[in-house]
Amino acid sequence: MQAENRPDILNTERLILRRFTMEDCEALLAITQEPNIFQYFPTRSAWTMEKVERSIEHQTNHWQTFGYSQMAVTLRETGQLMGWCGLEWLPDTNETEVGYLLSHAFWDKGYATEAARASVKFGLEEIGLKEIIGLTDPLNIASQRVLEKCGLTFTRRQVYFGMEMFRYSTQP
Ligand SMILES: CC(C)(COP(=O)(O)OP(=O)(O)OC[C@H]1O[C@@H](n2cnc3c(N)ncnc32)[C@H](O)[C@@H]1OP(=O)(O)O)[C@@H](O)C(=O)NCCC(=O)NCCS
Repeated sequence: MQAENRPDILNTERLILRRFTMEDCEALLAITQEPNIFQYFPTRSAWTMEKVERSIEHQTNHWQTFGYSQMAVTLRETGQLMGWCGLEWLPDTNETEVGYLLSHAFWDKGYATEAARASVKFGLEEIGLKEIIGLTDPLNIASQRVLEKCGLTFTRRQVYFGMEMFRYSTQP
């Protein structure tokens, strides 16, 4: 689809995924400071406000370059920020990854799957990506389930970001 006609909001049954703005800083900071939220990430420390601002800037630039990025996941009913989900280009391997993180309050209700499915569909159908991958710590079973429920399959163990990861893909 032509870039100018592409949506920058993804609607699902219970969620709205939209681009981050600087108005999300406070709510995003609170989520990134929840205990163990980065348990399975290469860098596990809580974020500072400076890191939150840099991340939102990065996502804004990423959208301008690629037409996609990680997006703010919000609850349709209230507009509350729940976390993020979306697509990110990995320069080291020239691949696009689907990623997600939600505040603990929203776990185990199928929200990550709902958001990730919409992101994968957007990437394949609107952006025209040939492949989308997913990467998880081998111990992050919840994330592996999310990828499987989105139709990705395990391909191999591979080192990304200096960590051995399980690599999933839309192309088995
Ligand atoms: C990973 C994460 C996004 C999942 O969000 P979620 O909204 O709870 O996910 P869903 O409800 O859509 O699906 C979770 C699935 O994992 C399963 N699950 C959750 N915890 C599990 C565990 N400890 N062991 C096995 N399965 C587990 C759930 O039962 C569900 O599967 P099911 O539908 O087959 O029952 C959330 O846990 C999170 O934000 N974690 C911190 C950030 C993170 O690790 N992100 C991923 C980086 S790769």
